Amino acid sequence: MRKPFIIANWKMNKNVHESVAFVKAIKEKLPTNKEIGIAAQAVSLYNMKEVAGNSNLQIIAQNASAELEGPYTGEISMRSLADAGVTYVMLGHLERRRLFNESNDAINQKVLAALQVGIIPIICTDEEMVQTEVNGKIHYVFQQLRSVLKGVPANKLSQVVISYEPSWAVGSSHQANPDVAEEGCQAIRQSLVEMYGNKIGDSIRILYGGSVNPDNIYKIMSKPNVDGALIGRASLDIESFLQMVNCVE
Ligand code: G3P
Repeated sequence: MRKPFIIANWKMNKNVHESVAFVKAIKEKLPTNKEIGIAAQAVSLYNMKEVAGNSNLQIIAQNASAELEGPYTGEISMRSLADAGVTYVMLGHLERRRLFNESNDAINQKVLAALQVGIIPIICTDEEMVQTEVNGKIHYVFQQLRSVLKGVPANKLSQVVISYEPSWAVGSSHQANPDVAEEGCQAIRQSLVEMYGNKIGDSIRILYGGSVNPDNIYKIMSKPNVDGALIGRASLDIESFLQMVNCVE
């Protein structure tokens, strides 16, 4: 049974005080039948965790270094994140790939570093990573998914979370289509089953991201291979976020 997971990805929005105030306002109002998380700017994470305490809120980093410590000025260590109470880290978001040229190899190194310190990676994929178009027909290319998961020990695979975000639906005015979400997530699941077998493939959670909001989340989350949502803009408002985390039984 895959527990639904709803994540706010605040990107580079909300300062420390705003982030802490948000956590204070929501922490007693979260349902317990799903996992809920907020991915905030690194500078806010420790304070957010202090306020969240033992509530049902996971504190999530948006990125980190593949190096655990050393002379890497300006980088953020997974080890420090773990010490700050961070439980998950998003890796390879399409903004990281497009704007900061992160490669599959670099993401793979970060995945391994996260697991080494006990932080669970949320590996973000977009259609460039899992789809290709040949003569107007979509094909799924799983070598890329395989390369970001390279070297992950079999006993850790089930913990890993994958997200699927079609680039055209991210930060755009395109309404996310539940069937598109299901198609992408289902294809990723099928490839995980092919790579690792039914038991592992069926246990990995796959989240959909891209223009999710209170009006469309219920239909998207009702799809059999969509185990949750990664939400940008609509997660910045307290009422909207609470509506979405309470959307499914
Ligand atoms: O990671 C979630 C994000 O990329 C989607 O953003 O604003 O389209 O919900 P948004």
